[in-house]
Amino acid sequence: MKLNINGTEHEIPEVLQDKKLAAYLREDLMLTGTKIGCDIGVCGSCTVLVNNKALRSCKLKLKDVAEKQVITIEGITPKDGTLHPIQQAFVDCGAIQCGFCTPGMVLSAWALLHETPHPSRQQVRNALKGNLCRCTGYQQIIDAVMQAAEVMRD
Ligand code: FES
Ligand code: FES
Repeated sequence: MKLNINGTEHEIPEVLQDKKLAAYLREDLMLTGTKIGCDIGVCGSCTVLVNNKALRSCKLKLKDVAEKQVITIEGITPKDGTLHPIQQAFVDCGAIQCGFCTPGMVLSAWALLHETPHPSRQQVRNALKGNLCRCTGYQQIIDAVMQAAEVMRD
């Protein structure tokens, strides 16, 4: 079985096929931008993109994403040290405090903007309602996604 993660193919031995994707990303690939908060599908901190949809990697086994394209927060971050426009907007809008929820928030926002380049604030709220933040109060996060939408349209 093969997995494509951030554009790189990984051969998965049979013994690992029931391993959770979140744990595999962090423990085997050292892609620690994917956070594990609740580990039961509630908090959204483990969100990744699977074929451009935002899904919770703690609820997926490796065999669930076989032959699919998985993108983590590391996969959308430019290699030249700059930030993706969504990440930059989070910085600009003060939408990050401890940062634990941020990778999941950014990837949920990415999936929304991929489908809906002109979202309303309500659409942003709906897209992020499964991503919990214990720090920021959400307002700045919504501001950040609206700003990112504008930048990405330009
Ligand atoms: S760690 Fe996956 S939803 Fe909380
Ligand atoms: S910034 Fe701390 S949980 Fe969101």
